[in-house]
Amino acid sequence: MTEASVRARQSLLSESSAEVVRATADVVAAHAEEITARFYPRMFAARPDLLRVFNQGNQATGEQSRALAGSVVAYAVQLVNPDAPPFDHILRRIAYKHVSLGIRPEQYTIVGHHLLAAVAEVLGEAVTPEVAAAWDEVYWLFATQLVAEEARLYQQAEVDPACPARPYRVVRRIDETQDVISLVLEPADGGPLPRITPGQYVSVFVDLPDGARQPRQYTVSSTRQDTRLQITVRRVRGAGGAPDGQVSSFLHDSVTVGDLLDVSAPAGDFVLQDATGPVLLASAGAGITTVLPIVEHLARTQPQRPVIVAHADRTPRDHALRETVLTVARELDHFTAYTWYEQPDVGDDQARIGYMDLSDVPLPDDVQVFTCGPLPFMRHVRTTLLARGVPAARIRYEVFGPDLWSARLTEPESGGR
Ligand SMILES: Cc1cc2nc3c(=O)[nH]c(=O)nc-3n(C[C@H](O)[C@H](O)[C@H](O)COP(=O)(O)OP(=O)(O)OC[C@H]3O[C@@H](n4cnc5c(N)ncnc54)[C@H](O)[C@@H]3O)c2cc1C
Ligand code: HEM
Repeated sequence: MTEASVRARQSLLSESSAEVVRATADVVAAHAEEITARFYPRMFAARPDLLRVFNQGNQATGEQSRALAGSVVAYAVQLVNPDAPPFDHILRRIAYKHVSLGIRPEQYTIVGHHLLAAVAEVLGEAVTPEVAAAWDEVYWLFATQLVAEEARLYQQAEVDPACPARPYRVVRRIDETQDVISLVLEPADGGPLPRITPGQYVSVFVDLPDGARQPRQYTVSSTRQDTRLQITVRRVRGAGGAPDGQVSSFLHDSVTVGDLLDVSAPAGDFVLQDATGPVLLASAGAGITTVLPIVEHLARTQPQRPVIVAHADRTPRDHALRETVLTVARELDHFTAYTWYEQPDVGDDQARIGYMDLSDVPLPDDVQVFTCGPLPFMRHVRTTLLARGVPAARIRYEVFGPDLWSARLTEPESGGR
């Protein structure tokens, strides 16, 4: 980081608040989850309308609480510590997620009110007027930066945050595997498709049978046709007594050709940069949905660019979009595919057995990596590639849930599919 950017970061927070934040960051961090665990019920009790905007699955598992708490603490820490990891990509990821859901500036007052009240409830007398003022300042600095970034993204996408979704008609439904379907969608208003950068996702809003409205994000898994976009949805089954996934089950069980779905404009920055170097796409399970659009795009625009795809799945029958990726990849000049199955078919001498292991896969020096799959899988990929000398800046990842990784909420570890 340059000296100028250190000064710019430091100057955001008043000196008196910076001192308080330095002194209290650890105690806030230690209680962060307790704070957000109080924050959400408070806010939903006061504003039940917001239940329709927040993913109730992530509320049940606590992941959204952890992501919110982690991001606020990471934001505060980077304001007062010039050696803290860069924060821009975390801010951009949150802003994209907010924009896909239609979050509006005036809602920051509601969230701020309940979040700061929850801090006071949890920390009690430790929250002196100075401490309250300092964290209020942190919250509003963060909010202001998010609101500005979100305004830019809304304008770029020509979306009015008051109506973030457009109706799309399901024009095709494809059974990819036993647990995975693709839905091909066409704007029902007859207008053109928005601009989609391969690797981006959309938020899909569904009205569930119990009357609840719920959004979920799905990667645009194909943009081959100019007038249609495709999403590919894996059915989430509840494990260990947990319920089945609400929205994925609804899409699998109840959505048919002719139905309408409310779909947001594309969002997300898990996208190719302008470059010509080789690309490694490392995916597991449903992460394959990010691979197909990128391979399609490269076949269309840069067929000379070397592409390696590496995919891990439970069995060949669970490996969705496999044939489609291989067919599109025939248009690439330099393409290599590797697969790992926990249980390969008898006699399959192409696939490797077990979890993905990239330690002996030939990699070009300047490879750019895109990885998507469960967190343990991505940690394993990252650890292997870092050990092989791939710079961290060349490894991009997409988390199919609240990002518990970038704000250092989970520790790197080895192993995993
Ligand atoms: C950027 C992004 C892109 C994505 N792209 C794709 C994609 O292309 N394809 C795809 O299939 N998915 C994708 N996802 C994931 C998708 O958005 C959903 O998270 C997924 O479909 C599960 O949603 P659901 O409503 O079925 O499950 P939910 O109902 O949200 O449940 C999620 C999990 O929480 C557990 N749970 C729910 N309630 C409880 C409870 N009370 N107690 C304990 N556990 C509970 C469930 O058992 C389940 O394991 C993406 C996510 C993101 C963020
Ligand atoms: C400074 C204020 C805020 C911060 C720091 C913040 C932080 C976050 C973070 C870290 C995520 C998870 C992003 C990811 O997917 O990785 C998120 C998602 C989300 N935020 Fe915010 N947010 C703020 C304000 C708001 C406001 C004002 C609203 C409007 C009510 C809001 C609604 C949501 C929703 C609905 C999600 C998706 C939740 C989910 O998928 O579980 N946020 N936010």
